[in-house]
Amino acid sequence: MTEEVWWKRGIVYQIYPRSFQDSDGDGIGDLKGIRSRLDYLQWLGVDAIWISPIFVSPMADFGYDVADYCAIEPVFGTMEDFDALIADVHARGMKLILDFVPNHTSEQHPWFLESRSSRTNPKRDWYIWHDPAPDGGPPNNWVAFFGGSGWEWDEKTGQYYYHAYLREQPDLNWRNPAVRAAMFNVMRFWLDRGVDGFRVDVMWHLIKDAEFRDNPPNPDYRSGLPEVASLVAFYSTDRPEVHEVVREMRAVTDEYDERILIGEIYLPIDRLVTYYGEHLDEAQLPFNFQLVEDGWDAEEIWNSLNDYEAALPNGGWPNWVLSNHDKPRVATRIGRPQARVAMMLLLTARGTPTLYYGDEIAMENVAIPEQHVQDPWQTSEPGDFGRDPQRTPMQWEPRPGSGFTSGAPWLPIAPDAADYCVARESGDPASMLSLTRRLIELRRAHPALSVGRYAALGRDGDVIAFLREHEGERFAVVLNLGAKQRCFVLPDGVAGTVTLSTLDGREDEAAGGALDLRGDEGLLIRLG
Ligand code: GLC
Repeated sequence: MTEEVWWKRGIVYQIYPRSFQDSDGDGIGDLKGIRSRLDYLQWLGVDAIWISPIFVSPMADFGYDVADYCAIEPVFGTMEDFDALIADVHARGMKLILDFVPNHTSEQHPWFLESRSSRTNPKRDWYIWHDPAPDGGPPNNWVAFFGGSGWEWDEKTGQYYYHAYLREQPDLNWRNPAVRAAMFNVMRFWLDRGVDGFRVDVMWHLIKDAEFRDNPPNPDYRSGLPEVASLVAFYSTDRPEVHEVVREMRAVTDEYDERILIGEIYLPIDRLVTYYGEHLDEAQLPFNFQLVEDGWDAEEIWNSLNDYEAALPNGGWPNWVLSNHDKPRVATRIGRPQARVAMMLLLTARGTPTLYYGDEIAMENVAIPEQHVQDPWQTSEPGDFGRDPQRTPMQWEPRPGSGFTSGAPWLPIAPDAADYCVARESGDPASMLSLTRRLIELRRAHPALSVGRYAALGRDGDVIAFLREHEGERFAVVLNLGAKQRCFVLPDGVAGTVTLSTLDGREDEAAGGALDLRGDEGLLIRLG
């Protein structure tokens, strides 16, 4: 194994805690449940677990509305459960990353209750309050993420407050030093308990325009997109002053050894990479969502790979994501055959991969009947923006409740869960799980695949190819992003034997010169 820090060589696995494993039969996953599945995660070979929010929350946005940052939501368990979990994770040599939600609190957070109690309350300025526009309406045109104005009128104190998401999620005022100090202490609270880092929710939102100018209309807006996309969020997000805040956050994690700051940031590459910081003193991993956002098209993916490599600052470490709890599952977006190719890409590209729970067993989005809808976005805005389909319970075993719960699951379980579950797939060498595990095993065994150098080999039609290299060891990755058979010509000097195909067979086959790829096939070739 290489000496590189854990978050460069390691693989992050995202757990949506409500849906991973229920231990008490209430149909909702919990910390004890996660703890009982650590054997599986270790067997799979991931290095770090990121758990979506587990803090006290009224659950208006399923934990992304925090009412107490330093206490565990009872639905998920107790602080003792948390301490036991982190101890077990560390005993296995794994890391634990928590979700930190600094942009907004719950409207039920004591800070907000104080803030809204009067205009003279000392915490008034902890949130973003503004007088109405001259016509009495909202102060500006900013739209909330789940639809409607981002401003909510407060009758009692005669001002509006700003919320980038639900009205139940008022935005904190990060220009106020007292807010910063309080939130940095929240970080220290968890770092002191041994947490290995944070995935920082909507990092690019933290600072808003000081003058609250109107956002410009988005010329590319079309029907079918959510209302929030009707404007370019120029003045409400990605303000220059946000970098000072991120630097301060990083300084907090740097008070401890080897801790990580991951930023959730949905921005074009050239803006995204600014979150590494001019002196690499901001987020170590600003999430790179290109594989989530791009169309699954060889040209587009190829350009993304290479544009990203070119845009990275000197010393900035890349990272890749295929899915998360906000986006449709990869197997649904691009189909199960291509999801195997995508898994090979995720686990052989240069950069830290984040694997969304269930993607390793090819879980698909699950259609949610109206009476089972949970996500507020599905009900707050006309259209089909609900995120429940990608948040359904983990599929463990072919039986009622899927081995996830002995009770009634909070979201429906996939109709094909008996075929696509851990118990079945772990015994099938052709399954997505076996492929994923093998890729992880290879990545762990060969530093070329984790921390090695990247070099583009080229693109030919639907096929993309690149090299990974470390201390004399070299691999070629050749991926057919289409369903038709293709030929790719390996350049002179690039020849070896096939280590792994995303389809069956071909291991140890010689590869050099003209290489035939079946439809939906990806090959990992060890070069001689
Ligand atoms: C992030 C989360 C998402 C949440 C939003 C508001 O984008 O990933 O689930 O709804 O922030 O906190």
